[in-house]
Amino acid sequence: MAITKDEQKVLAAKTAIDTLIEQKKIFSGMKIGLGTGSTALPAVKRLSERIEDGTLKDIKAVVTSFQTENYCKDLGIPVYTLNDRAIDGELDLAIDGADEIDPENNLIKGGGAALLLEKIVAYNSKSYAIVADESKSVTNMGTKFPLPVEIIGGARRSVEKELNKMGAKCVLREGVRKCGPVITDNGNQILDCTWEKPVNPAEMEEKIAKIVGVVEVGFFTKLRPTAFIAHSDGSVEIRN
Ligand code: 5RP
Repeated sequence: MAITKDEQKVLAAKTAIDTLIEQKKIFSGMKIGLGTGSTALPAVKRLSERIEDGTLKDIKAVVTSFQTENYCKDLGIPVYTLNDRAIDGELDLAIDGADEIDPENNLIKGGGAALLLEKIVAYNSKSYAIVADESKSVTNMGTKFPLPVEIIGGARRSVEKELNKMGAKCVLREGVRKCGPVITDNGNQILDCTWEKPVNPAEMEEKIAKIVGVVEVGFFTKLRPTAFIAHSDGSVEIRN
């Protein structure tokens, strides 16, 4: 019997934490970056279970959003900032979800508008793991899930024009049950961008990051995460 998308998320998350513990890639004393969203949170939950059962001790977490901070606090996982002396700007591992993942493990992230902290955490971690259900696995990027670009609100029109020149159509992300734009945890806004044809994510990450007024780009192409992708048949593909 096929399992649902939500079940796949939990399966990918549990498998990732348990496998990484088994492989000694998660161990006591580690500094771990924790992602945001409906697949990352089950990974946080599993981590807390493995702390509670005594497998892991002295785990220091750095979170990527208010959502994850609140969840860690509810679960009793100690939360630090990257600047705290105990962390000193460096993490051992980061684990997170993704909106899309291509065959080279390039990612689109930012569906939950947390891309800035997610990228800071990921790019400052010695290793990186992604948890996802099978719907996130794609052959190319740019045309389906809109690429989130975090921008300074006052530069919205000028950034939009530059993105249009690169072939992107942009939509300002609107709040739900709040009039006006989504305001990120960092006080910025999000443009969601799509192209008519697939784009090269590595080239676009570089080009878009150079636009004045862009804070961060949702393409993550400079990391080669280990991806745990759960399928509807109950299997979990581990892709390096
Ligand atoms: C948040 C993110 C999330 O990791 C991404 O949106 C995937 O979320 P979910 O697991 O809920 O589908 O990048 O900014």
